[in-house]
Amino acid sequence: MSGSRAEGPSEVRLIEHFRRARRDPDLAVLEGFHALKHALRFGAELLKVVTADPEQVMALASALAPDVIETLRSRMQAVSPRVFVALAPQAPPTGVIATARRPDVALAELLGRPSVSPIVLLEDPHSMGNLGACIRVAAAADALAVLSMGRNDPWHPDAVRGAAGLHFALPVVHLSGPVISDRVLVAIDPGGDDLQPERLPARAILAFGAERHGLSDELLAAARVRTRIPMRPGVSSLNLATSVAAVLYAWRFACSGPAGLSTAERPAG
Ligand SMILES: C[S@@+](CC[C@H](N)C(=O)[O-])C[C@H]1O[C@@H](n2cnc3c(N)ncnc32)[C@H](O)[C@@H]1O
Repeated sequence: MSGSRAEGPSEVRLIEHFRRARRDPDLAVLEGFHALKHALRFGAELLKVVTADPEQVMALASALAPDVIETLRSRMQAVSPRVFVALAPQAPPTGVIATARRPDVALAELLGRPSVSPIVLLEDPHSMGNLGACIRVAAAADALAVLSMGRNDPWHPDAVRGAAGLHFALPVVHLSGPVISDRVLVAIDPGGDDLQPERLPARAILAFGAERHGLSDELLAAARVRTRIPMRPGVSSLNLATSVAAVLYAWRFACSGPAGLSTAERPAG
């Protein structure tokens, strides 16, 4: 690390751990309190939890997530502000950063699950903020999983921050090849027929295209159904994450209702 001259060996190791974790396909970097809070709630296996200001983090936990206070207290490691800012390109303003192991996902088993909930398929999303927002709403609406194709890793730290750590609430997979499944592939595309959410097939794979180019010809040709979210004349398309939200919630209200959501535990924040 540049500027690490005054650090001891354990701090240098910590900085190196975070640097490597950013590129390690088995690990996730959780930047900030909200990502860490959700990771904890959804059972993430944490490796390091680091802060330069334990009081700030505990105050946030008291206000927003009392359910994670005890785990935070036992897991948090305090470092100097100088070390803390070396753990990420931009130090999280909420004063905490962590690493965790990404959960293993068996893709064939996931695709074969009988749950009627749809799977969200993103074809080559470019913006990490969009990717994160898609995962966040998929978790909130209780979709079965998010699968992402293309060059961008949906577990990139910026996408994890954009999803507020909700990657741990449902399977999130970076696909390396085509999806082979008996599920009905539904192209969500401005050129389709108007969405009738009650007619969306059970166990569907809902495919959404890239921000600029939309769905590829291959994916459109492979889809059995092509459907659009109606828009006022003159509007050409919605933002990617907005369209994921619109379709998932239309499906949820039409097909299972908000009561279908798991509401047994309602932690604060
Ligand atoms: C920003 S849009 C891409 C715009 C692209 N120029 C097009 O025409 O598809 C990104 C993705 O959001 C979804 N989307 C946006 N607006 C939509 C709409 N009104 N109906 C259906 N899908 C929509 C589609 O999956 C689209 O590929």
